Amino acid sequence: MTLEQEIAKRRTFGIISHPDAGKTTLTEKLLLFGGAIQKAGAVKSSKIKDHARSDWMEIEKQRGISVATSVMGFNYKDIKINLLDTPGHQDFAEDTYRTLTAVDSVIMVIDCVKGVEMQTEKLMEVCRMRNTPVICFINKLDREGQDPFDLLDEIEEKLNIKVRPLSWPISMGKTFKGVYSLYEKSLKLFTPSKTKVEEAIEIADIADPSIDGYVGENNAKQLRADVELIEGVYPDFEVEDYLSGKVAPVFFGSAVNNFGVKELLDTFIKIAPPPIPRETTLRAITPDEKKFSGFIFKIHANMDPKHRNRIAFLRVCSGKFERGTNYFHVRQDKNIRFSNATAFMAQDRETVEEAWPGDIVGLYDTGNLKIGDTLTEGEKTTYTGIPSFSPEIFKEVINKDAMKTKQLEKGLLQLMEEGVAQLFSYQLGNRKVVGTVGALQFEVIQFRLKNEYNATVEFASQNIYKACWISSKDPKKLEEFLDSKQRHIARDKDDKLVFMAESKAWLQMVQDNFPDIEFHFTSEFKENDEVASR
Ligand code: G4P
Repeated sequence: MTLEQEIAKRRTFGIISHPDAGKTTLTEKLLLFGGAIQKAGAVKSSKIKDHARSDWMEIEKQRGISVATSVMGFNYKDIKINLLDTPGHQDFAEDTYRTLTAVDSVIMVIDCVKGVEMQTEKLMEVCRMRNTPVICFINKLDREGQDPFDLLDEIEEKLNIKVRPLSWPISMGKTFKGVYSLYEKSLKLFTPSKTKVEEAIEIADIADPSIDGYVGENNAKQLRADVELIEGVYPDFEVEDYLSGKVAPVFFGSAVNNFGVKELLDTFIKIAPPPIPRETTLRAITPDEKKFSGFIFKIHANMDPKHRNRIAFLRVCSGKFERGTNYFHVRQDKNIRFSNATAFMAQDRETVEEAWPGDIVGLYDTGNLKIGDTLTEGEKTTYTGIPSFSPEIFKEVINKDAMKTKQLEKGLLQLMEEGVAQLFSYQLGNRKVVGTVGALQFEVIQFRLKNEYNATVEFASQNIYKACWISSKDPKKLEEFLDSKQRHIARDKDDKLVFMAESKAWLQMVQDNFPDIEFHFTSEFKENDEVASR
């Protein structure tokens, strides 16, 4: 097959949801369709439930599971689908944000009872930064949920995206009858089943009297009224609007009953984008360029503490990746040969000889690779759009064993390279502050530093609201600012300047007092980007 054909048959995507909306269940059903697993229950949940908060074995086990299920590749109707798993637990949100940089589209699962939840809102913000195309799957229709029109309004309002239903539920909960496909003009009747797939019933027209026979007169009447309203209120569905991230098509179903999933998958392979061009510091690179390029979006380290092994996850962006070839590591300005490369097909890992744009390859690494690194065939350019976001919780690292300072430094560095948390080093006093999205990370870091590096640390709470990456068009003004705020200035992992703001009100005041300084909540910004909101 040619490079163009390989690209055309690939779809790389992620499923996002608030915990418990049904991401794991939907993943499993998709894998069943792809023939990647044989029976339900084969996909281990990659969530860490609350009761597991201080259960270290659980954390380690989850790390193991999350390597196994990080990327699930399967074939469906001649399409090679790469499904990237995103951790459900919100304390691992940073990991999810990074994974989203490696996908071309997402499916968002929403629980029809709970509606749009907080975690979904945050994840959607990340999708919007890159105009990632989104398909919504409203799940659990076998339960009494909210009115479907209200759900659509809530999505538009809270997620700030236009929606277009492509299927419509007929009743809900105990009286759930099925869905009408507005896209294919067919009816699917619901019978609870974990594996059976309903055949679609072709309907010539919504006025077709046979609908009454299938779902009852009242339901048929309601459906006709709903469809009329939808067609009056929502503009026709244009694939272009979906691809540019402006409109999210919406499907209704019940993942656990395998209802509406096949329809979702069939539409997904029709409309979801194959690998798309990506920006680098020099230029946009298109997938069909002959020369290979890709970037690292995730690192898993020390699965076996006796061997310092790491797996770096590489997203292939252009050309063909070949095992055993020398590739150019842009940040280190040197060539590296990867003789050990893994493909992810369902839960099996197998050695891969070649990979194409959209594919994810696991590279065994001895410490050369960091998240955000670019590999090319020689071009000195770096993929952008893999920013760090300001953490939410900050704590100072206190070394409790002065004899193990070296081990601590090494351990901290490696954990940060793996993306477990962010480290901010203060200019003054050599203080080191770790920033995370959730509290659980501090327990993970403390445990892993002891277990893997024999270093003992404690954490001291810090009164910090946000880390703001700073810049200014005027170097003199920047210098003045740094002098005046010395105590609050730190450097991030890439040596970028960060202002550690203590409170929202104080940040506002500082912004007002230093109008020539720009404050950003992400590490990657262009001069005219939106700055931290005042
Ligand atoms: P997550 O990965 O998004 O966190 O959610 P997950 O798939 O684990 O689903 C959360 C719970 O919701 C599970 O129940 C799952 O069975 C249930 N669920 C998923 N889809 C549907 C659906 O369409 N209808 C209904 N009624 N429930 C659904 P659980 O009790 O937490 O776990 P389990 O013991 O059933 O596995």
